[in-house]
Amino acid sequence: MSDFKNKYGPWAIVTGASSSIGMEFSRQLAAKGLNLFLIARREERLKALASDLSSKHGIDARIIAVDVSSEDFLSGIRSVTSGFEIGLLINNAGFTNTGALVENNLEDEIRLLHVNCRAPLMLAHEFGKQMKDRKKGGIIFLASIVAFASAPRWTNYCASKAYDLMLAEGLAAEMKEYGVDVLALCPGFTRTEFQKLARINDLIAMDAEPVVCMALDKLGKSGIAVPGLFNKFASFSTRFQPRSLNTFIYKQVIRHSQQH
Ligand SMILES: NC(=O)c1ccc[n+]([C@@H]2O[C@H](COP(=O)([O-])OP(=O)(O)OC[C@H]3O[C@@H](n4cnc5c(N)ncnc54)[C@H](OP(=O)(O)O)[C@@H]3O)[C@@H](O)[C@H]2O)c1
Repeated sequence: MSDFKNKYGPWAIVTGASSSIGMEFSRQLAAKGLNLFLIARREERLKALASDLSSKHGIDARIIAVDVSSEDFLSGIRSVTSGFEIGLLINNAGFTNTGALVENNLEDEIRLLHVNCRAPLMLAHEFGKQMKDRKKGGIIFLASIVAFASAPRWTNYCASKAYDLMLAEGLAAEMKEYGVDVLALCPGFTRTEFQKLARINDLIAMDAEPVVCMALDKLGKSGIAVPGLFNKFASFSTRFQPRSLNTFIYKQVIRHSQQH
């Protein structure tokens, strides 16, 4: 058995597996021989992915079609995964709302908090406890480079990603002595459906494949992964600039990247 599978197997949970970064995580984990619980709302996509990965890699892939913004989403996941050893949790499902916060629909902003923050917290609490008891495992949180500085018109999204980053950093320190690895993955623009929905020009974006590859490589070696030189520079430079300047720069980057 490979070291990776031994440490983070035999089962992994991937939220937001129906598209882009989550789908890429599922592919790379299946190639490493992990069995998968694939979670998202679009059931047909999950079924197609599960069948493709099972036949290509000889793994067991099961789907859980659930809306993680719903009040009791965890009970459905708990009942299906009960009795399985979950060694890796990829807290990936997430989305943004674009526009002036006070003009946006408040229900949409609260749903964003549920998907981007509440669900990762509840899943990490549930499966992190099991990993702690077993003294092995891993959790990856999808933060973002906008966790380092806010971008107006993505205000609530940036705040949610800062939450994910802080949650991952604190949890990593708590779990270290129990042999559980926690990583905050902080991508910049990545070519995904998210980008299309947010109308971001993908010229400066990375593909999901190297982003995921770096995350799986950094897990257990580092607490944060920022893929790509430009993103590394952008996130690092926020440490030395006034916060108001960071916000100004991020505002310009998002504005100029957005197609009209
Ligand atoms: N793309 C980027 O530039 C970028 C940069 C930094 C960070 N990120 C983060 O990376 C993660 C993945 O984003 P992506 O770019 O791959 O976006 P994406 O292509 O839009 O995928 C988002 C995934 O989240 C799932 N999801 C959304 N709402 C859900 C809900 N209520 N219940 C269950 N699943 C839900 C979607 O599945 P269903 O619609 O089928 O439910 C989909 O599988 C997000 O957390 C995002 O914030 C992305």
